[in-house]
Amino acid sequence: MLSQTSVMEIHSENYRFLQEHVYSQTGIVLEGDKHYLFESRLTPIVRQLGLGSINDLCALLQATSKPDVKRQIAEAMTTNETYFFRDPAHYDAIRSILLPRLRDERRDTKRLRFWSAAASTGQEAYSLAMLLLEEGLGDWNIQILGTDFSSQVVERARTGKFQQIEVNRGLPAILQVKHFRRAGVEWQLSEAVRRMVSFETIDLRKSMRALGPFDLVFCRNVMIYFDAETKKQITKEIHGTLFRGGWLLLGGAETAFGVDEWFDRKSEGNATVYVAR
Ligand SMILES: C[S@@+](CC[C@H](N)C(=O)[O-])C[C@H]1O[C@@H](n2cnc3c(N)ncnc32)[C@H](O)[C@@H]1O
Repeated sequence: MLSQTSVMEIHSENYRFLQEHVYSQTGIVLEGDKHYLFESRLTPIVRQLGLGSINDLCALLQATSKPDVKRQIAEAMTTNETYFFRDPAHYDAIRSILLPRLRDERRDTKRLRFWSAAASTGQEAYSLAMLLLEEGLGDWNIQILGTDFSSQVVERARTGKFQQIEVNRGLPAILQVKHFRRAGVEWQLSEAVRRMVSFETIDLRKSMRALGPFDLVFCRNVMIYFDAETKKQITKEIHGTLFRGGWLLLGGAETAFGVDEWFDRKSEGNATVYVAR
């Protein structure tokens, strides 16, 4: 039996090694004292590999290339908190401002494309799909792309299955009744919603222009983890994926460094939206 202290202890040079590893793999800056975060996220990997401590894990990475383990560590250090209809003011603005305009502009092609960047387990992308169905756009050609760095959350998102605790967060009861059915202890989203959404594993720091053009990009609650240079580069790339007049939505407390270079900031109801120039 491994003792708690031996697994958890991290030598200072290994702590710096892990910080640098996570930064180079994901762009996530882990400043200040994040010992508890490394300990809680990496101890399961230490145990799974049959190692004695996080220091052993660092020694393993330094001695051999082990790309799978490197990736596993980086993914374990991402924070995947999300829930249905997070920041309702954004969905209100989409319903009352963006969709009426798009309905008019696209009445001939009936084609709309949306991107949930940093989609985590998919609640953001699926919330949008449900909203679009509720707004009577079921017969339109709609594509919603959800992407995330973590292949683990992408795999979960693809299943369209959610636990009770997840459907209890932010999802109106009426939409649960309409779009979900029980699947054992989980809830399975309907085919009608799932076929509107697809998921890919994508690092936001890579060139993303080929993914577009989009009418709207959600990039919420992920910029907070990046430094100014990474934020600016991602904001510029996202701009390149949007139609002129397309919307970028950031998390409630977030700013994107340099956003004003490429976007007009507008208040729509209680939401701030960034409109691509
Ligand atoms: C807190 S969640 C946000 C989920 C959702 N957008 C929301 O606001 O509810 C942040 C997500 O960003 C992802 N992430 C972190 N670094 C990333 C990167 N370099 N490229 C793509 N996704 C990244 C994480 O894996 C995580 O799932």
